[in-house]
Amino acid sequence: MTDDQGTGSEPDPEPSSDLHTDEADTGEAGTLVLTNIGHLVTNDPERTGLCGVVEDAAIVSIDGVISWVGHAGDLPSDLPSAPVDAEGRSIVPGFVDAHTHLTYGGDRLGEFVDRMEGVPYADILAAGGGIYATVRATRESSLVELIADTMARLERMQATGTTTIEIKSGYGLDLETEFGLVSTARALDMSLPIDIVSTFLGAHVVGPEYRDDPDGYLELVNGTMLDLVAEHVEFVDVFCDPVAFDVSQARSVADAAAGHGLGVRIHADQTAHIGAAALAAEVGAVSADHLDHSTDEDLAAMAEAGTSAVLVPGASYSMRVPYPDGRRIWNSGVTVAIATDHNPGTSLIETMPFVISLA
Ligand code: NIG
Ligand code: FE
Repeated sequence: MTDDQGTGSEPDPEPSSDLHTDEADTGEAGTLVLTNIGHLVTNDPERTGLCGVVEDAAIVSIDGVISWVGHAGDLPSDLPSAPVDAEGRSIVPGFVDAHTHLTYGGDRLGEFVDRMEGVPYADILAAGGGIYATVRATRESSLVELIADTMARLERMQATGTTTIEIKSGYGLDLETEFGLVSTARALDMSLPIDIVSTFLGAHVVGPEYRDDPDGYLELVNGTMLDLVAEHVEFVDVFCDPVAFDVSQARSVADAAAGHGLGVRIHADQTAHIGAAALAAEVGAVSADHLDHSTDEDLAAMAEAGTSAVLVPGASYSMRVPYPDGRRIWNSGVTVAIATDHNPGTSLIETMPFVISLA
């Protein structure tokens, strides 16, 4: 599998017979010729039909680089090795899981039962459970435990086709633990054959030591914490919601991120409409995520700003709340991505195929 949309060949019906090697590094050494692929999803916009599907297809990969794709009958004659028969199976690009909270300690299974019995998420959080329960468990975990647990989750995700994953921090909420979470993502990116995109979510909720002083906490997040983690992350996220940070607090996080040249993602309007998606558009965020309560005006602003929607149907499924209307968001002209939102509280889902089914 590959997470690259490029194919390195000319589009049908005149595929190149030249085995060049400039696209789609799959990380494997040696040569692979795969034939008898029932459906090959190329995502090549120049191919006709949905997702650029090629039927009865073949792939040539040299030293981990896909160098040719097309109809099996058009395979070049100078094949570098004997073909492997895919027996009519489908091949699709690797999945990009665009929103996860993968690095954490402990579990919240007891809380899951409470939620199924109708206790609201906000009440659990206000009583020191929810994200705060995971913060306690994460602080009690050693770095080695965090790395081992996250690695096990990543290996299971890879087994169901994920090749690129975004991982947020956000269960440390103090300097040392947030740095540990960001470092864990970094170490795993360097050591595993999966691409990890790292996001700093110090502004997940107000840190437990600062519950009476949210502004003091944001000063720490936007100052010392961000200074420490900035060079190890690509994005900064903030949970902009009645249970976490309001729009003006979230704007301060976005401004601090911009000051470090980092992209912004926002957990937006998940439990209520408070203007978070509009803020995402205003600050030019890369994405606004969740969007359970977005308005038509929010979506128009996002389309205009080029802010993508990341929808996480697994969270709605796990929390037993209505799904946001993905088709409405799609039709508004906003680019839509889907993700697992894997986290220990509101979405234990690890597999993109399940999220695709829900979507
Ligand atoms: O994306 N909404 C905020 N963050 C997570 C949930 C975190 C948790 O409950 O631990 C989410 O669903
Ligand atoms: Fe999330």
